Amino acid sequence: MTAQNFTPKPYTKSVENGSFTWSSPSNIALVKYWGKKEHQIPENPSISFTLDNCKTTTTLSFVKKKNEDKEYSFDVYLDGEKKDDFKPKIETFFKRIEGYLPFLKEYYFKIETSNTFPHSSGIASSASGMSALALCLLSVESELSSEIDDVFFIQKASFLARLGSGSACRSLVGDLVVWGKHEAIDGSSDLLGVKYPYEVHQNFKNYQDTILLVDKGEKQVSSTIGHNLMNGHPFAQERFKQAHKNLSSLINVFKEGDLDTFIEIVESEALTLHAMMMTSIPYFILMKPNTLEIINKIWSFREKTGSKVCFTLDAGANVHVLYPENESEQVCEFINNELVAYCQNGHYISDRIGFGAKLL
Ligand code: PMV
Repeated sequence: MTAQNFTPKPYTKSVENGSFTWSSPSNIALVKYWGKKEHQIPENPSISFTLDNCKTTTTLSFVKKKNEDKEYSFDVYLDGEKKDDFKPKIETFFKRIEGYLPFLKEYYFKIETSNTFPHSSGIASSASGMSALALCLLSVESELSSEIDDVFFIQKASFLARLGSGSACRSLVGDLVVWGKHEAIDGSSDLLGVKYPYEVHQNFKNYQDTILLVDKGEKQVSSTIGHNLMNGHPFAQERFKQAHKNLSSLINVFKEGDLDTFIEIVESEALTLHAMMMTSIPYFILMKPNTLEIINKIWSFREKTGSKVCFTLDAGANVHVLYPENESEQVCEFINNELVAYCQNGHYISDRIGFGAKLL
């Protein structure tokens, strides 16, 4: 598959106006994407759990313009409020995808979006937001073309979402999604996310993720800057190799339900991501003291109880606490008794593996 597969043939149908609403989830990477080449091509493959509760719902309404001009015409609303400060990011997205969606300048678009998680929660909305928008745009294209079947629809939406925000391409379908070419994973591609194609043990069904909001502020380092820090990073090449190796190991972990190795890989990936940021120039420490408190509490709880709870981190201070469904009761009690105290205003979000995006 190449990018050319996503350049459409001339459209055979026309549409004056309409509206589509998609709800799309966030995802949490187990093997992290950190470092990219031109056109949002990842330096290494990654894999994530699709989440269920943390979602963006986007309604895209469109009206054909009377006179086609050379500009994009759109407005963006978050929770009913006009957000002109969101426009540059969407304009950049439109520019990147215009070759694949040549109708963009022919319509006025109203983009109305809302998140199930608070905007100021420190949870990035770019994966859910960009995937929801990509899906809405593909729904418009489906009105114009008769060549888009269900499989191609999701592939192209993921391909476009990637051009909005890399990890967004992993938010369309459920459970486990791989993005980035990996020699042992059939169908994996640098261009889009694909559902993990092999056996997954019962241990990983309905896996739980409680997101502890340690720091609800704006991201300290944007992911664009973060990815760029991997260019010329002294450890970059080893890190990219390690991601391939970790993903290879996960194939057996998922098959056998090997939670101990799962924990080792997932926690090591999280710490490696942060280590990359600590050892780049300029360098950053994105964890907060409470992030470390939580990690240490998780380690002693595991030691004491034999629980299979573990953590992962995004490029920030919040902690994702991951655990199998059959440990929900004991881990929730542990979180409430010992971890909530380290969250900003005691806030956390309960989530779990989800089924992917939905047309509403
Ligand atoms: O999709 P971006 O460019 O915001 O990058 C996301 C990077 C991490 O969340 C840190 C890791 C990942 O694979 O999701």
